[in-house]
Amino acid sequence: MLKIKIALVGVGNCASAFVQGLQYYSNCKKEEDCIGLRYLFLGGFHPRDIQIVAAFDIDNRKVGKDLAEAIYAPPNNTLKLVNVPQTNVTVHKGPVLDGIGEYTKNIVQVSSLPEVNVADVLKESGAEIVVNLLPSGAVKASQRYAEQALSAGCAFVNTTPAFIASDAAWAKRFEEAELPLVGDDLIDQVGATTLHKTLLKLLSMHGVRITETYQLDVGGGTESLDTLERTRDVKRIVKTKSVETALPYKAAVVAGSTDYVDFLQNRRDSYFWIKGLYFCRVPMRIDLRLSTVDAPNAGSALFDVIRAVKIALNRKLKGVILPISAYAFKHPLQLTPIETAEKMFTDFIMGKA
Ligand SMILES: NC(=O)c1ccc[n+]([C@@H]2O[C@H](COP(=O)([O-])OP(=O)(O)OC[C@H]3O[C@@H](n4cnc5c(N)ncnc54)[C@H](O)[C@@H]3O)[C@@H](O)[C@H]2O)c1
Repeated sequence: MLKIKIALVGVGNCASAFVQGLQYYSNCKKEEDCIGLRYLFLGGFHPRDIQIVAAFDIDNRKVGKDLAEAIYAPPNNTLKLVNVPQTNVTVHKGPVLDGIGEYTKNIVQVSSLPEVNVADVLKESGAEIVVNLLPSGAVKASQRYAEQALSAGCAFVNTTPAFIASDAAWAKRFEEAELPLVGDDLIDQVGATTLHKTLLKLLSMHGVRITETYQLDVGGGTESLDTLERTRDVKRIVKTKSVETALPYKAAVVAGSTDYVDFLQNRRDSYFWIKGLYFCRVPMRIDLRLSTVDAPNAGSALFDVIRAVKIALNRKLKGVILPISAYAFKHPLQLTPIETAEKMFTDFIMGKA
């Protein structure tokens, strides 16, 4: 099987869990043995078919280092899951632009090395897919890497909430370049938004009238600090809209991120509150907390997205690939109910759509 050659943009916590996951699952043979993965094989591809051929960051503790070393460098603070052997992929210095915000400027140490020409590195490395894992507030930098992917003839995966795959103008540019584009804002495997929507759907299906509900979370990774400063408002709008679609009627809904608690490290606590009325208007309440570690929560979806984008490349599909975007992202070009998105994705993998 030919390798799926990818480039990582941003060697932060998410990239760390992803690279460790590639190592962790590389020798897994049977579906029943690969606990934690949704698909061991997808469209015939195993996770070990994914090969990282280039990586970009701006932090001097990562730039110039082998990827296997860079993923454990501070300020990354996610779990160490396995030892990753040398990858022979050296982290390149990319353009900084808005990669650091006011709140993260004392945490990220910008490398003094000159920045590379990203498109040239992509071409030389043979990368086919660029996976954007920049901080959520790095909108200009995300757009710059999308430009570079276009110049180098690569597909683009936008895991960040920056509007790229949900923006009609970007969709058109990738379509004209005959390249696939998917995003925006990756859905977690143990996702607070998905859990919230599922609970609301179940209750309303059973005749419960939800009157008010919120879901708010706190986390301790650099990304939570960046969210606090630069994307809290947009995240709140996107998440609230998404949760509202789970109810067939209007209710008071709030969903979003709230704060940064440094000692949580890469952990995240999500709080859910649901209030409603059931038989004879008798009141009910749910008060829940979900505790996860952030970065590994993106791994399974990333594995699926990358393999699905490879399938899109093989089929010479271009522009936004809706079955992948709706399945794995919170803000696709078109919002789609979970069940429909799941069916669209499996039909796409099987070649029916
Ligand atoms: N479960 C998850 O972790 C999850 C789920 C969905 C979406 N995401 C998205 O993934 C992205 C990454 O999350 P994270 O937790 O890894 O963040 P992080 O802050 O740990 O990592 C970001 C990395 O990007 C680097 N960087 C900053 N500016 C750069 C630039 N201009 N060029 C190259 N590198 C640059 C930083 O040095 C850092 O290494 C975020 O946008 C987040 O919203 C994550």
